[in-house]
Amino acid sequence: MVFNHTKYIMHMKGKVKTKLNITGNILIYYTVIILVMVIAVSSLMGIIISRYQENHLLIAHIEFYPELINVLVDKDPTILQTLSGKKSSGISDNKSSVAGMLAIKGVSSAAIINTNGEIAAQSNLNLTLKGISLNQQFIKALSGSTGYEYTIKDNDRSLILYIPVKSGNDIKGVVYLSENGSHLTSIIHGSRFTAWLIISLSGLLLYILLFYIFYHSFRKQKKINEHLWQTQDVTIFALGYQAELRDLETGKHIERTSAYVSIIAKELKKHEKYKTYMTDDYISDLVRSAPLHDIGKVAIPDSILRKPGKLTDEEYLIMQTHPEHGSDILEKAEERLTFPSFFKIAIQMSKYHHEKWNGTGYPSKLSGVDIPLSARIMALADVYDALSSARPYKEAFSHEKCISIIKDESGKSFDPEIVGIFLTKEQEFKNVSILMKDD
Ligand SMILES: [Fe+2]
Ligand SMILES: [Fe+2]
Repeated sequence: MVFNHTKYIMHMKGKVKTKLNITGNILIYYTVIILVMVIAVSSLMGIIISRYQENHLLIAHIEFYPELINVLVDKDPTILQTLSGKKSSGISDNKSSVAGMLAIKGVSSAAIINTNGEIAAQSNLNLTLKGISLNQQFIKALSGSTGYEYTIKDNDRSLILYIPVKSGNDIKGVVYLSENGSHLTSIIHGSRFTAWLIISLSGLLLYILLFYIFYHSFRKQKKINEHLWQTQDVTIFALGYQAELRDLETGKHIERTSAYVSIIAKELKKHEKYKTYMTDDYISDLVRSAPLHDIGKVAIPDSILRKPGKLTDEEYLIMQTHPEHGSDILEKAEERLTFPSFFKIAIQMSKYHHEKWNGTGYPSKLSGVDIPLSARIMALADVYDALSSARPYKEAFSHEKCISIIKDESGKSFDPEIVGIFLTKEQEFKNVSILMKDD
């Protein structure tokens, strides 16, 4: 009695694949979350930084122009002369005293205003600045500090500065400077674009880095899970095989019955009634549990288990204890677990796989839907295999004869719905019985 482990592992790999598809979805799920988080954080940083940058730029301008004007005042005596009235306010003279200011990049108009609020010189003739003496920012400039007005209209910015002109400690007047709105806007837009570009690239780099770290650890974890999963399956197989080894009649019983359970469960999933119940996880657990259904046979003496002839009534009663022995073993194991596991299904399968739909089975004489679905599936898989396999006391029945017997037992030994499923998938049952035939 030699098992084809390659086939068994291939079969198990199919189940592993189902689990890995779920983890594959987790990879997509988490990378999308990381991407959304990186975009959100980058956008927020972009807003905060561009606002900070605009304020910073404004402060830089407000500080930069007064320094420049002071340098101009020191270099160009015409400015103070204009304010003291020593120079005429003709257009050509006006231009000479404000020429240096207009040469400053971005300045669109400039004026020199005396302390009474009168324009002493200006860059263009249409600058009237009526009521300037009452302007708060002008008054602020007269007190020695730079005043400014910053406005944003239709996404176009304008900055007007009132810069005190000093001679020693005396305030001689105020320089009015208006910065070209489109120039200021283009500077701010340019710096904002640069900030967004840097933030976006940083965000992209951060995403790539996080994705790499996550993907790397995910791959590592996936490999560990695969190994753990396969180790569990092989351990289950070993447990089931241990019981099987002692029972000379069963051959590749474990492999085939697991395959039959899988066929029935996958077909049941297509039916509306079982759709929500038969999840991929549940099917996977059913197939994992199937090899353990006869584990209780380890408690049956060899003299009964390996008896070539018919069992006496007393021996048969002892044989009938194997479902409960099996569930006892599995319950003891399950008690040690701290989380829900497939053992619940394995216990059901082991304990009730000899129950009959009409209540004449053993050990609990359950009937109908009181028998857990897992055990009803296992019962048919188990009997089909017993019928279609050769035993020391009988030849293997033909597939057709097996179908006929199972049909007759519908509503007696078996759940009629599961018999219905079997009949639609009988060809697959036949294929498995041939493919995994006893050596
Ligand atoms: Fe059994
Ligand atoms: Fe069995």
